[in-house]
Amino acid sequence: MTPTDGPLHVAIIMDGNGRWAKQRGLPRTFGHREGVKALKRTVEAASGLGVDTLTVFGFSTENWRRPMAEVSELMSLLKAYVESDLERLVREGVKVRVIGRRTGLKPDILAVIDRAEARTAHNTRFLLQVAFNYGGRADITDAARRFAEDVEQGRARAADLDEAMFEQRLSTADTPAPDLIVRTSGERRLSNFLLWECAYAELVFQDVYWPDYGPDHLRAAIAEFRARERRYGGAASDDVLAAG
Ligand code: FPP
Repeated sequence: MTPTDGPLHVAIIMDGNGRWAKQRGLPRTFGHREGVKALKRTVEAASGLGVDTLTVFGFSTENWRRPMAEVSELMSLLKAYVESDLERLVREGVKVRVIGRRTGLKPDILAVIDRAEARTAHNTRFLLQVAFNYGGRADITDAARRFAEDVEQGRARAADLDEAMFEQRLSTADTPAPDLIVRTSGERRLSNFLLWECAYAELVFQDVYWPDYGPDHLRAAIAEFRARERRYGGAASDDVLAAG
């Protein structure tokens, strides 16, 4: 498999909303609102750039530590995004899936998530995964708990556990792992995003605050990805030919 084969799963850590706002002397919430516009631009452009799955980090299990006003703004933005864009997403064949813990989310947010998933459940052209109340470690812990429960109930045997069985219990079950993980704003960390799924992902860090992000940035990240050679633990293709 070369980096130019097949549609891509791109995952994005949309970072820098707060700094974008601060630079302009605006409250952080303005940055998040502009961040939603950037998200819309990026979703619109993605399939034209060879992407068939986009996973975005909307709210992490650690984001609860932020001031209450900011937390409720992020919750409202998810709601507003679904309310304004759901019918267009339905028409455009986008399947929406929200990954992360449902516990702790208020009933109105849960209802919006359920509606978005139900209305788009039969779409197959493009998958938009929104990580919301998501943490990689929490997701792995939850998967381990589900497996332990299955063993307790006699539905599985500990000795049979393999990676594929474990993956089936993650919230990303049935979605191929990301090919490319992008983080904006210049920070170079994964911050608890897709910890299991990132095993062979290429990482691209872009020095742009998320509210300024758009199709050209995504195109550049994909170009960088395509210029790399993925080896999945094997040898470089030149070396294989030379040994051949
Ligand atoms: C990081 O910026 C961004 C977030 C914590 C949230 C991302 C959310 C959006 C783009 C808008 C909402 C979208 C959905 C789907 C709810 P930061 O606040 O950490 O920025 P900073 O590091 O500059 O402070």
